[in-house]
Amino acid sequence: MNLVFVSAEAAPFSKAGGLADVAGSLPEALTPYLDSVTTITPLYGQIDTEKHNILATGERGHIDMGEETFHYALHQLNDPDATAHVIFIECAPLFGRQGIYTKANGEGFDDNNIRYFFFQLVVLDVLTRGIVKADLLHCNDHHTGLLPLLLKDTDLSTRTVFTIHNFLYHGHFSVADCANLPDGIVKHLTRTQWDNFSALLEGIDHSDVVTTVSPGYAKELIEGINVDAHSHTILQRAIHKFSGIVNGIDTSYWNPEKDQYTPHHYSAENIHGKMDNKLALLKETGLDADTDAPLFGSISRLVENKGFPLIVDLLDEFVALGAKFVFLGSGDPVITDQLQSAQQKHPGRIAFDAGFNEPLAHLIEAGSDIFLMPSRFEPCGLNQLYSLRYGTIPLVNRTGGLGDTVSDYKGNDGTGFVFEPYELDALRNAMKRTLQVFKSEDQWSSLIQRAMAEDFSWDQSAKQYYNLYKS
Ligand code: GLC
Repeated sequence: MNLVFVSAEAAPFSKAGGLADVAGSLPEALTPYLDSVTTITPLYGQIDTEKHNILATGERGHIDMGEETFHYALHQLNDPDATAHVIFIECAPLFGRQGIYTKANGEGFDDNNIRYFFFQLVVLDVLTRGIVKADLLHCNDHHTGLLPLLLKDTDLSTRTVFTIHNFLYHGHFSVADCANLPDGIVKHLTRTQWDNFSALLEGIDHSDVVTTVSPGYAKELIEGINVDAHSHTILQRAIHKFSGIVNGIDTSYWNPEKDQYTPHHYSAENIHGKMDNKLALLKETGLDADTDAPLFGSISRLVENKGFPLIVDLLDEFVALGAKFVFLGSGDPVITDQLQSAQQKHPGRIAFDAGFNEPLAHLIEAGSDIFLMPSRFEPCGLNQLYSLRYGTIPLVNRTGGLGDTVSDYKGNDGTGFVFEPYELDALRNAMKRTLQVFKSEDQWSSLIQRAMAEDFSWDQSAKQYYNLYKS
């Protein structure tokens, strides 16, 4: 069985969100089960080809897109440690820019429809020309949503899996945008309204199997939570082929015993280094250096659905109770302003780094006491999994993957703090409960031990994907 995994982003080469982490680690975890695994992704301008040893394969081609023809060249990762192949599509006019989906100011590129139609047509070209062999094509999110339909128009017998990483992002395009797609495809697209279609729903409708990134989120989607009426109809049609598989994490990159970015290393048996990292984190972010006060960490895109409206309302109150906060992330300008003013109002108690900072992300995981992740909804979530591994106790809303991976503290049981419903009072109570338990050194250390004993490596999930592929 030869598998091709298609993703618009893949860590460590390109990353806008959790999809990149999955595309960077799941294919590697699948190689023991399959004859070959190949990831295909665009070669963005931000990718450092020299550093990663990415070289042209010599294969080239072109795609006619309406009035324009775009040429592509294939490149390949040359890494003796990698077991999965990674192929990059080079097309300077479409991918040779810094951003993945957006300009520096956060606005989406105007030609994203052309960029991702092209991406998918190149994948199709590579398969039909036999450059890469695929018995199975694993598509991810709307940037790859047309591939299952495109494949049906060919002689290939390749079967398709489509994974939803976040149902919020549909890829709505108007049929008028489709001059560059084969006619045979356009007539099969299901219009939503005003002649628009959703690339995400096309993927769901036309693939052989659909998955999402946790059983909890699969259940919510099927039940129609946060789902509009049209999408609900399409999801109901897909029930028989729909399941949820929780994401794993890259346990060598996220390893408190060997983390390349943290000054101190530690394990469940030898936890001292965690406190040293806390001190390093406090110093690094300009927070008061008393290690006794509870420290809440947060690493997130700054968007409404990650729970910021609730968090922001509680900061004054919890600073008054002695807590400290460190935030890392970028996104919504309103939330950015709110966190900036909170930092100015409480110097030494609240720190905020507006940006993308991988070393700081690791130090926050290693040095915080509590990881704050009260998302309104969360397909899977990865930071709560990194937190468990680093003994940083996650505080989460019971939704999607968060509810599947964190269990609520109950005396001698539980790995974190889980609240519901998504309301200010429920979050406030959970934070108070957390501070209460934090005061008891014994209770807190056994909670850390239970959190660190959890195993979210890819082994289990890769096996589940393999079984699905076989079926
Ligand atoms: C998206 C989801 C997140 C998930 C990730 C990887 O970013 O929002 O919950 O963990 O994809 O599947």
